[in-house]
Amino acid sequence: MRVRESRILIVGLGLIGGSLAAALRAAGHRGEILACDPDADEIARGIEMGLIDRGDTRLTPLVEGTSMIVLAVPVLAMRGVMTELAACLERAAPEAVITDVGSTKATIRDCAVAAFGRVPPCLVLGHPIAGSEKSGVAAADPGLYARHKVILTPEADTDPAAIARVRDLWTACGAEVLEMEVARHDQVLARTSHLPHLLAFSLVDTLARQDERLAIFRYAAGGFRDFTRIAGSDPVMWRDIFAANREAVLAALDDFEAGLARLRRAVEAGDGDAMLATFDRASHARHYFESLLNQTSYQAEYQMQQDGKQLRYRVGPGGGVSGRIRVPGDKSISHRSIMLGALAEGVTEVKGFLEGEDSLATLQAFREMGVAIEGPHQGRVTVHGVGMHGLKPPAGSLYVGNAGTAMRLFSGLLAGQAFDTELTGDASLTKRPMGRVADPLRLMGAEIDTAEGGRPPLHIHGGKALKGITYDMPMASAQVKSCLLLAGLYAEGETRVREPAPTRDHTERMLAGFGYEVHREGDTCWLSGGGRLTAAPIDVPSDISSATFFLVAAAITPGSDLVLEHVGINPTRIGVINILELMGADLRLENEREVGGEPVADLHIRYAPLHGIEIPVDQVPLAIDEFPALFIAAANAEGTTRLRGAEELRVKESDRLQAMADGLTALGVENTLLPDGIDIVGRGGEGPNYGGGRIDSRGDHRIAMAFTIAALRAGEEIGIDDCANVATSFPGFVDLVRRVGLSLREERDEEGA
Ligand code: S3P
Repeated sequence: MRVRESRILIVGLGLIGGSLAAALRAAGHRGEILACDPDADEIARGIEMGLIDRGDTRLTPLVEGTSMIVLAVPVLAMRGVMTELAACLERAAPEAVITDVGSTKATIRDCAVAAFGRVPPCLVLGHPIAGSEKSGVAAADPGLYARHKVILTPEADTDPAAIARVRDLWTACGAEVLEMEVARHDQVLARTSHLPHLLAFSLVDTLARQDERLAIFRYAAGGFRDFTRIAGSDPVMWRDIFAANREAVLAALDDFEAGLARLRRAVEAGDGDAMLATFDRASHARHYFESLLNQTSYQAEYQMQQDGKQLRYRVGPGGGVSGRIRVPGDKSISHRSIMLGALAEGVTEVKGFLEGEDSLATLQAFREMGVAIEGPHQGRVTVHGVGMHGLKPPAGSLYVGNAGTAMRLFSGLLAGQAFDTELTGDASLTKRPMGRVADPLRLMGAEIDTAEGGRPPLHIHGGKALKGITYDMPMASAQVKSCLLLAGLYAEGETRVREPAPTRDHTERMLAGFGYEVHREGDTCWLSGGGRLTAAPIDVPSDISSATFFLVAAAITPGSDLVLEHVGINPTRIGVINILELMGADLRLENEREVGGEPVADLHIRYAPLHGIEIPVDQVPLAIDEFPALFIAAANAEGTTRLRGAEELRVKESDRLQAMADGLTALGVENTLLPDGIDIVGRGGEGPNYGGGRIDSRGDHRIAMAFTIAALRAGEEIGIDDCANVATSFPGFVDLVRRVGLSLREERDEEGA
């Protein structure tokens, strides 16, 4: 990223302004950088450090010809600086853009209005969320903004070109740039930054005033140090911030005091349960925050992409498949266990919960809506249901990462709430169609805004009276069906959904398990709104979609013998078993039983030669997530396997038909791609069936896992790019793959390397 500004003027050369200059220099910025600061020594030091070309203590002489002016002065100095700038702005270049770095935005907007008469379209207010306890240009750090967020708070009439240039400025420093409204920015910062600073200042001051302060500090350990680090920050700056953001800080402080009073009462009364509930909630929220900070999985992927790095699997050719394993819990059931548990009355105990990114995103979203959830601890989750109308408005938008199921089911559930919500997701989810849920929900009376083409983010307006509808689904989608049933819980009258082909029925089963009547006749299911859910225990079976990779691995590898324990074999999910059996697989269901309303079995599979088949169209919705792996089975079966009626594969986490066809072609497997399917020509036999190569998984977990197992019958190594999203559905995949007998190396390398 190159910043094209010819002359940048930084007003206020402290740590923040100095670090901006340092970061721009480090990024190779060639234009001039000037600085204005009341302290001539700071300017001299800035020049000496090679950060700025020249500077002055007065503003007017420096404005001449500048194309970008960054106001990095303390919040309370902003008014004077802006007034001075307004008087000499005509000297700047005609395309000049102004921005600032102040940590409160409403007061700075008021300063702008006072100085310029309005917020000029060329002024983009902004706030880099980065800092240090150090101050002054001497502490300038070129890495201060790298991987930090910068929030811009443009007005409705701010010039888009100006916004783009300010974005470029910060992106060049390695920051991630977002936009927010001024009021929201001030509320968010009051809670996440201003309140903790206030508490740290207060705690240190309170202790320091006590008589024994020396002793106290001498014995203070890591906890004290961690909690109070920020009390060493610049007092003047913080006085100004609290003066400027008074109202929002007071509101945040009131909330905090109420929480503290609750905790005080619990301690006083020796109420261990209340303490535990608070600490558990906090501890998990902190761990979740930590994982965001450490940026695991898709977060990591995002960051690695920013750094030009990514996670790649290198899978050695050949290997065996044997043993007895248990794959993680079912993703669909895990999402639903949290959703229904949260809306139920009573406490829902969940066992076998999938601790993957997708279902964790659902769990976190409910925490953000005020639901107390303990765990997960080794698959155990305790959901303290709040009842059908007990959810609270979340503080911000609900981020569901890569999880299409979460977004679609949430849209129905949230359409029935009294409050507004926004649902956002990662880059892949942002491309996926949401009109399929938004359109029928609108027919029910919901108000939902989407981005162009019916894509996320979704803005769901609460407080709408929903009414039941009869909906004929244009596609066989369990997500759409479930979304409408969840909205139907809040609707007046009956909500009926007709499916063109059977789709997974976990929502219906679980609703029934929670005491909510759901009817079915032929291809239509329905329920009446206004009922209640009663908590019930949930035992999540292993996910047949995750088991599939190992079923296919064993099915294609001579000599293999594998048992997959406790796998869900709901009749609406067993397309993969039916298809593999049609292809000639030696697959047995052992120890069949029913657990918590879902059928379960151990799947025992041994190698047997496979042959190509025409996949029956009625099996397609029943195996919809299993096709990437099934295509690998087809590539090793003798003869041609034909799939039709599978256009839905084009709108999954990636266009799975295209991604698989490209990957198969890269390995040298003959295939013909069609709009709704594919023909794959397999070679059969027991030797290598294709070569190695490099595969682009397109960030799709199932594409990555499918080509991992393909290596069992490859002649050479298979390298698979973009694999971090495997953690969305299958944490521990790499370990299990190695345990059954494949050789897989993870590599984090430079893009294009
Ligand atoms: C799911 C339904 C399916 C499936 C997805 C999970 C669910 O999607 O592909 O992985 O949990 O309801 P569609 O309903 O879009 O087919």
